[in-house]
Amino acid sequence: MKKVLTFASLLATAVIFYNCHGSKKATAAAPKTTYDGSLKAVIAANCSPCHIAGQGNKKPYDNYTNAKADIDDMIRRIDMNPTDRGFMPFKHPKLPDATIAVFKKWKADGTPEN
Ligand code: HEC
Repeated sequence: MKKVLTFASLLATAVIFYNCHGSKKATAAAPKTTYDGSLKAVIAANCSPCHIAGQGNKKPYDNYTNAKADIDDMIRRIDMNPTDRGFMPFKHPKLPDATIAVFKKWKADGTPEN
């Protein structure tokens, strides 16, 4: 019986410690998605050459100011079906969800530059 009690209290202690650790982790701020850290590379990979200055003739998004100004339109367009008018990336397959999520996260984080 004593053995069982010891085990039970050990288990309880373990659970408490585990939960403390878990909640600490949950409240720690998740890293923000920034233009310099993430968006710039995603745009270079998926929106070139059309939206890269000196390469394409569409509005360049390889600069922070333009990207920030147009983030709503970018998200709206990359969320469309490829057959919809205005869909981006133009004449390309739809972006993977994880890539679209980078644009959305950047907006949700307040479009920080770095
Ligand atoms: C193959 C060339 C091409 C690629 C790649 C491309 N676009 Fe475009 N983009 C266009 C064209 C052409 C237009 C103008 C036609 C229109 O408005 O639908 C345009 C227009 C836009 C506009 C409206 C503002 C403007 O420049 O007129 C946004 C926002 C946009 N694209 C976002 C994107 C994003 C975000 C990507 C990458 C995920 C992307 N595009 C990739 C060709 C491209």
